[in-house]
Amino acid sequence: MGKCTRPPSAGCQPTNCLNCPSVSAELLAFRDEVSGCTRCALAQGRTQVVFGAGNPAAELMFVGEAPGFHEDKQGVPFVGQAGKLLEKLLAGIGLARDDVYICNVLKCRPPGNRDPQPEEIEACESHLFKQVELIRPRVVATLGNFATKLLSGRPTGITRVHGQEQEVELGGNRVMLYPLYHPAAALYTPKMLEVLASDFRRLPELMGRSLLPEPEPEPVLAAPQAAVQLGLF
Ligand code: URA
Repeated sequence: MGKCTRPPSAGCQPTNCLNCPSVSAELLAFRDEVSGCTRCALAQGRTQVVFGAGNPAAELMFVGEAPGFHEDKQGVPFVGQAGKLLEKLLAGIGLARDDVYICNVLKCRPPGNRDPQPEEIEACESHLFKQVELIRPRVVATLGNFATKLLSGRPTGITRVHGQEQEVELGGNRVMLYPLYHPAAALYTPKMLEVLASDFRRLPELMGRSLLPEPEPEPVLAAPQAAVQLGLF
């Protein structure tokens, strides 16, 4: 892994820089903690928790929906057909799986690959936020509706917001949120695949774009008292 080129975060010390082994160790320790999660009923039907995989100091993070059959068996996200497409799209912008970090909103497979339920998302979301906090990506690409709605905090669906980046605060850091169609949906819809591929090609530009500093709080206006007093003399 190369030298860290990111601006330091508040309280950054040589020992807790994200490219330091100690921080990868923190992510590993967190993975161990989550591997025994029983916060929702999905714990009962899973083979294992699918925590996430990739570069622990990735500048680009992908968040999908939930593990499917193969992910549940192998313990790795996006290993099926949708994962193959994701890898192909990544290769198109000169990246490989190991350059990025890939995870899901839910860490356990819903039975029969049904949609995540609100109570499952609620039980699982702090795991994702903690991952973002530890990895500190610049860009978080949400794949499909569930990740997009959760991380944008808005109910607007992916059809309306795909390809529209927005800066948000996530896991204590400013990140560029970039909604994309889910590769599994694009697999069977050529038009959607075209749009996904074209949105995907903007990722290098977004990763190079510097994030705006947080807006300053509105200045508190001085009380008009002084002016009134001046007028008296
Ligand atoms: N595989 C995953 O890991 N997540 C998805 O959302 C789809 C397939």
